[in-house]
Amino acid sequence: AAPDLQEIHDFLITLAKQAGQLITSARPSIGSTDTKKNCKSFSFCFPKHPKPSLSHTYLTKPPTTASDLVTETDKAVEALISTALSSKYPTYSFLGEESYEPGLRLTAAPTFVVDPIDGTTNFVHGYPYVSTSLAFVQDYTPLVGVVYNPFSGLLYHGVKGRGSFLTTALPAGSPVPEVTRRLPLRPPELLESVDKALICVEWGNEREGPNWEAKIQTFAALASAQAGMAHSLRSLGSAALNLCSVAAGELDAYWEGGCWAWDVAAGWVILDEAGGSMVGANRGEWEVPVDGRRYLAVRAGSDESQKKAFIEQFWGFVKG
Ligand code: IPD
Repeated sequence: AAPDLQEIHDFLITLAKQAGQLITSARPSIGSTDTKKNCKSFSFCFPKHPKPSLSHTYLTKPPTTASDLVTETDKAVEALISTALSSKYPTYSFLGEESYEPGLRLTAAPTFVVDPIDGTTNFVHGYPYVSTSLAFVQDYTPLVGVVYNPFSGLLYHGVKGRGSFLTTALPAGSPVPEVTRRLPLRPPELLESVDKALICVEWGNEREGPNWEAKIQTFAALASAQAGMAHSLRSLGSAALNLCSVAAGELDAYWEGGCWAWDVAAGWVILDEAGGSMVGANRGEWEVPVDGRRYLAVRAGSDESQKKAFIEQFWGFVKG
């Protein structure tokens, strides 16, 4: 039977709120973190590519910095979610950040793609820009997305073909009723040019080598005092929430190389349904797979052709 997307959407929201309770009641300490394992398998997404800009060889070696953090709460939240999903949907696959093993790939099968805590570094430091990101993906297409920040109570959610929404979801027992608004939050203005844009970038976890150089040169090009520079850059620490802010129309674009399918799959649906677009981080990559790891997300514009022109102009800033 075809998956019941609305039922999945509703169930993922229930799970996101349960995850939120675990996250907000945890007391992580910087000393109790561990470094992650994602970098172990660079072959997960990247065949060798002759020209590394933001490259297909991204993360070609084990991490040399302690910037890729994981906590006991990341693991506990993923266990909660995977147990609930496998009991309700035993035939569907599961791809989660914490249970990921090198070699695992997204397939065409119906799959839940889960990041229990997106923004682990923020979580550890008490910076409340943290989310649980839950997606349902089939045939490599994100179909349902739920992204919940339990600290702010902002719940972003969407189903392919049915729109995306922001619900202010306060903790259980709150006297304030939930309010839901459709995304984007205001009618999209013309996406004119990079020099009028507020752009999100991320530092990522790899802090040396050709990809790092490509990134910082791109940041400098976007920010420096030259013709066409952006209004400003932001770096907030949760890919899923960044995508939701682009969907909402609060950010004009978000550019990153190095994040994973579980960081973007849910936000992707929310962005698409809000009229935004996800393309590759490098020039000419109009199509990017969910596990493509190098993305440029752009908000809805009032005009599709102008949005395309904005994307092409943006790619002109990408160095490497
Ligand atoms: C990270 C965040 C961060 C992004 C990294 C991701 P995590 O996810 O989304 O914003 O720059 O690439 O790995 O590790 O906190 O789940």
